[in-house]
Amino acid sequence: MNVLVVGKSVKVSNLTPVSILLLHGPNLNLLGQREPGIYGSLSLQDINNLLIETGQKLGAEVSPMQSNHEGALVDAIHGSLGLHQGIVINAGAYTHTSIALRDAIAAVNIPTVEVHLSNIYRREEFRHHSYIAPVVIGQISGFGAQSYVLGLQALVHHLRQ
Ligand code: DQA
Repeated sequence: MNVLVVGKSVKVSNLTPVSILLLHGPNLNLLGQREPGIYGSLSLQDINNLLIETGQKLGAEVSPMQSNHEGALVDAIHGSLGLHQGIVINAGAYTHTSIALRDAIAAVNIPTVEVHLSNIYRREEFRHHSYIAPVVIGQISGFGAQSYVLGLQALVHHLRQ
C-alpha cells in the first residue's frame, strides 16, 4: 500500500500493526544542542518523527516519551503492559546506574531493544557497563539516529517471528 504524506509517497505495511513504546531517558530532550559532536545535530523531535515514519513503513505504531526522572521511566515501562508489544529504549545515563529500570524491563517481560546514539564502548569506562543489557533482546550503539532506526527494525522483525 502507498500513502501520500505531504507530497511524498511512503510505503505503508499491510501487516497487523504492532504498538511500540519509544522511551528516551535523561538529557535526551536537549538533543541537537547537547554535545553535537557526540550526539549529532538532530533534535529529539526529529528522531521521534524519523521513528514514527519508519514505523509506518514497518507496520508499527510508535509512541514516543521522554523523561529526566527515573521513576517516570519506570512508570512508563509498567504502563506498557497491555498497551505496547515492544519497547525501544535509550535510557541515557540511567543505562549505567539504574537497577530500577532493569528490574522494570524484566518485570513486564515486554521485548525491548536498547539503543545508544554514541558507541558507549569507545567512551569513558563508566559507560561500558549497561545494567539494562542483560534483560533486553539486543543492543545497538554508535550509529547516531540510525541506532534507533536499526533498533526499531530489529524489534519489529523479532515480534513478527
Ligand atoms: C547515550 C550514552 C550515555 O552514556 C549517555 O549518558 C547519554 C546518551 C547515547 O545515546 O549515546 O545520555 O545513551
